[in-house]
Amino acid sequence: MDYFYTFIALVVAFMIITIIRQKITLAHFFVYFAKLYNERMGARKKLLFDGLNQLKKKRDDGKLHILDVGCGNGANFQFFPAGSEVICIDPNRYFEAILRNNVSQFPDIRASEFHFGRVEDMTDLVKTESVDAVVCTIVLCSVKDVVRGLQEILRVLKPVS
Ligand SMILES: C[S@@+](CC[C@H](N)C(=O)[O-])C[C@H]1O[C@@H](n2cnc3c(N)ncnc32)[C@H](O)[C@@H]1O
Repeated sequence: MDYFYTFIALVVAFMIITIIRQKITLAHFFVYFAKLYNERMGARKKLLFDGLNQLKKKRDDGKLHILDVGCGNGANFQFFPAGSEVICIDPNRYFEAILRNNVSQFPDIRASEFHFGRVEDMTDLVKTESVDAVVCTIVLCSVKDVVRGLQEILRVLKPVS
């Protein structure tokens, strides 16, 4: 019987180690992928993110509060306007260290918070009507409940007058 429990404990330990390693490997793969993607799509992303500059001009204090959903390694930071405060959310906690290291290249942008979570449930993480913009790039394809995710995005956005 002792052998049986030892065997079960080893299998469980192996499964836990495999899951952790997969998440770490995935995080490092995305770093590589995001670099390639930004090189290829940089010009288009610049155009897409220009809306944030327009929005920033409308803000009296010139500060923009952005929520980056599924932030990954912070690949979007190079497209955010200077002075932005960014809340980052990702279900893979191994991105936090990579992101913090990456965003140190952008001293004009502050990653104010990093939350381990999913877009479908940000209730405890992001206040209602608290952000000016939500950015979500190459993420919705991985979201299980897209409708719920979009409802959450609408909840956290400040109303436009
Ligand atoms: C392809 S990466 C894109 C990362 C980054 N947005 C970019 O443009 O490079 C997809 C990211 O979405 C995250 N993700 C997956 N499911 C999610 C969910 N339900 N809510 C929020 N993020 C999610 C993954 O952990 C991963 O960091």
